[in-house]
Amino acid sequence: MAEEAAVVTAEKSWVRIVTGQTPTNIAVIKYWGKRDENLILPINDSISVTLDPNHLCTTTTVAVSPAFDKDRMWLNGKEISLAGDRFQNCLREIRKRATDVEEEEKGIKIAKKDWENLHVHIASYNNFPTAAGLASSAAGLACLVFSLARLMNVKEDQGQLSAIARQGSGSACRSLYGGFVKWIMGKSEDGSDSFAVQVTDEKHWDDLVILIAVVSSQQKETSSTSGMRESVETSLLLKHRAQEIVPKRILQMEEAIKNKDFPSFARLTCADSNQFHATCLDTTPPIFYMNDTSHKIISIVEKWNRAETTPQVAYTFDAGPNAVLIARDRKAATQLLQRMLYYFPPGADADLNSFVVGDKSILQDAG
Ligand code: ADP
Ligand code: DP6
Ligand code: CO
Repeated sequence: MAEEAAVVTAEKSWVRIVTGQTPTNIAVIKYWGKRDENLILPINDSISVTLDPNHLCTTTTVAVSPAFDKDRMWLNGKEISLAGDRFQNCLREIRKRATDVEEEEKGIKIAKKDWENLHVHIASYNNFPTAAGLASSAAGLACLVFSLARLMNVKEDQGQLSAIARQGSGSACRSLYGGFVKWIMGKSEDGSDSFAVQVTDEKHWDDLVILIAVVSSQQKETSSTSGMRESVETSLLLKHRAQEIVPKRILQMEEAIKNKDFPSFARLTCADSNQFHATCLDTTPPIFYMNDTSHKIISIVEKWNRAETTPQVAYTFDAGPNAVLIARDRKAATQLLQRMLYYFPPGADADLNSFVVGDKSILQDAG
């Protein structure tokens, strides 16, 4: 995460501005289902990989000024409402922890108690498709919490900020760390033990190359929030998955990551993506996030992996048709790109819109 602060003063007013940047993360063991809708507490642990912010990230600028008469937000240039519980919970939790800000030379003095009456303006921009299954809510809400915390001089550590970001969007709690990250579901009713921790840092396993195949940048029909609510209400497979399957997979996945064991990593990642989509199909009415192009990508990767002595690529699909392909190294990534271009030739009617190739993650400035 990057941040920069600037302060502009005028005779009768001032504005303090902070800009933050946060990458998205893609789960390799998926979160799907809440036990508490308001606090956003999940029914299972999940593990994700934080992507390279040079490729997929959110940039959010937050500003405070006595001239602002209400909180306002713009997403990708369009004003959106901050009325929902998620935004309100994040704003409240950050405001509660705000501390004094003093910049004498610029004539700014904000006391802790002043924050209650000051309003913020927020402008956020995603450099990748929003609400299309590439975890925009993860990067977006993590960036919002990170930037507001800097603006208001909040002194909490990353773990506590992660628990606040979780209340904006579950997957957001994992975007405050680089590398591989685990969201511990926690047991408490108040959510105090439900936050993300780093499994391995961004330097670990830097052979991996991630390629994102954008099948569609359209907004999905069923948001993650309502999709998982319907699955919790109607899918028996989801209950079985959360209670019997995921706890074992989490342990195996942590081992695979720590040991850089690509065959196990690929097997678990692909199986978990497929099971998550199976729970969507097991939902009434069924939810279809993948499309024919997604299925074709799975077949290509499965056939290729089986033809080799060891798997070359893992695939995972979030709540949308877009593929996240994780190649074991640069050589496999080059071959993957060649294969994708062969099976999906670019052109006016192409099934794939674009590719984004990036490193696994970044060295983050934790501020
Ligand atoms: P995705 O798969 O992209 O995460 P979701 O259905 O989980 O899709 O969430 C999409 C919603 O997340 C958007 O409709 C918007 O409300 C919110 N969101 C996305 N990007 C941002 C952002 N940069 N700042 C604040 N909220 C965002
Ligand atoms: C399939 O975090 O977007 O991407 O908590 O309701 O905002 P809310 O949902 P969200 O769900 C993410 C679901 C997923 C899997 C994952 O990221 O673990
Ligand atoms: Co989301």
